[in-house]
Amino acid sequence: MLSKRVQEALNEQIRIEAESSQVYLAMASWAEIQPGIDNVTSFFYQHSDEERMHMLKLIHFVNERGGFATIPALPQPPITFPSIKHAFKELLKHEIFVSESINKVIDIALEEKDYATHNFLQWYVAEQIEEEALARTMNDKLELIGDDKGGMYLFDRDILTISMAAEAKHQK
Ligand code: FEO
Repeated sequence: MLSKRVQEALNEQIRIEAESSQVYLAMASWAEIQPGIDNVTSFFYQHSDEERMHMLKLIHFVNERGGFATIPALPQPPITFPSIKHAFKELLKHEIFVSESINKVIDIALEEKDYATHNFLQWYVAEQIEEEALARTMNDKLELIGDDKGGMYLFDRDILTISMAAEAKHQK
């Protein structure tokens, strides 16, 4: 059974995962109308789907533990982005924020001696390590590319391979 405090913290995390999915969906839709970045577009759509999966996993956990997962209202995400580089910077910033928020929920679970929730959240800790590392890799590559169009062509060509490799590593 979840304590009220843990339930509230998990519901807040549900909101954050839902918001992440929405923000990355906005990036995907924006990227889709930019020329020549089809794989960057797919990356953002996939990332948005992943965040929805993170949200659903939390919803099921809360409900299965005798709590009630509430579905939140979401703010309007940014509609456009100044550049691809900017979008990826936002992605990294957002993932760092999500990691901090997971840590806060874990602190609360420990304070409430809720070891089941603590154990469940370890999956998110591992996922965040991977997502932050992936976002940093993308940002480093974009930094190297600068304004080089050929570099951006290669970035778009390789982005799905890079993210799939990171995902495979996480699932080992
Ligand atoms: Fe579910 Fe990328 O945080």
